[in-house]
Amino acid sequence: MRTTIRSIVSSWKNQSPAVRVIRFWLGITWIYGGWDKATDPDFLGKIGATSISKQLTGYSTSSPLGFLFRHMIERSTAVGIIVMIAEFAIGFATLFWVAPTFIAFVGFTMSLGLWITATWHVKPYFLGSDTAYAVLWLSYFLTLLGKRRSVDVSFDRRGAIRIGTLAVAGALASVLGRGLQKKKVSATASGGNQIVKLVDLPVGKTFEFTSSDGGPAIVFRTKNGVFAYSEICTHQGCTVSYSASDKALVCPCHGAAYDPFNAAAVLGGPSNTPLSTVKVAINGDWVVQA
Ligand code: FES
Repeated sequence: MRTTIRSIVSSWKNQSPAVRVIRFWLGITWIYGGWDKATDPDFLGKIGATSISKQLTGYSTSSPLGFLFRHMIERSTAVGIIVMIAEFAIGFATLFWVAPTFIAFVGFTMSLGLWITATWHVKPYFLGSDTAYAVLWLSYFLTLLGKRRSVDVSFDRRGAIRIGTLAVAGALASVLGRGLQKKKVSATASGGNQIVKLVDLPVGKTFEFTSSDGGPAIVFRTKNGVFAYSEICTHQGCTVSYSASDKALVCPCHGAAYDPFNAAAVLGGPSNTPLSTVKVAINGDWVVQA
C-alpha cells in the first residue's frame, strides 16, 4: 500500500507542470463524465435526450460508423453500464497512475470514437469538445510513450490487481451515482397520471413520457386533440422514435415504420402489428393518461 502511494506521488512529482495540468484535467473530467451518467435518471432508460438508447439511435443514422451502433441499440442498457464504468475507471487510472500509457491510448480512442459519433455533425468542428479531448489524450499519450515504439499491454500480477481494483471502483462509483440520482425534471413529477402541461405541448408537437406500465411512450397533439402510442416496436421490442421529416415512428433496429396519424399502422419493415395505443386525454391544463 505504502509503495503504491509512493509511486502515485512520485508519478506526479516527476511530471512537468504542463503534463500535470493535462493529466489532472483528463482524469477529473472522465470521472465527472461517469458521475454525470450515473446520476442521470434518464441515461439507462429509453426516453429523454440523454438516454443511451436514444443516443445510440441517433448515432446509428448520423455517424459514419452507424452500422456498428445499430447492433448496440438492442443492448443499450449494457452498453450504457460499460461506458459509465469505463469512464470512471479511465479517470481513476489517470489520476492514480495505473497502466498510464495504455489508459491514455484508451482515452484517445474513446474520444476519437465520440468525435466520429456524438460530435460528427458539429460545425465548425472546434465547437465539439470531443475534438479537443482527442487531441489532449493523444498529446498525453505521446508524452508518456516517449521514445518507445509500442505500448506494453502485458500486466504482471500486481498490474492485473490494480486494473481489477479500478474496475471495481468504477462499478461502485456507478452504483453510488445511481443511488444519488438527480431529481428528474418531469411533467409527471406533480403526481397522478399527468403527463405534460398543455402549454408545453403545442399543436404539432410530441412529448415522450413513461406510461403507467413503465414503458416508453409518445404523445402527439394535433388540432383534433391528443393521442399516444407505446414506443416499443412490435417486431422485436426496440424503441421507436418519431421522425418529423418522415412523419413516422421509426425503429432503428430493423427499419419498421409506423404511421402515428393512422392508428400507428405499419408503413414498412418487418413488423405486422401496429404500435399499442396508450389512452390519453386533456384534463384542465394537463394531458393525462386515461
Ligand atoms: S425491433 Fe423494430 S424493426 Fe425489429
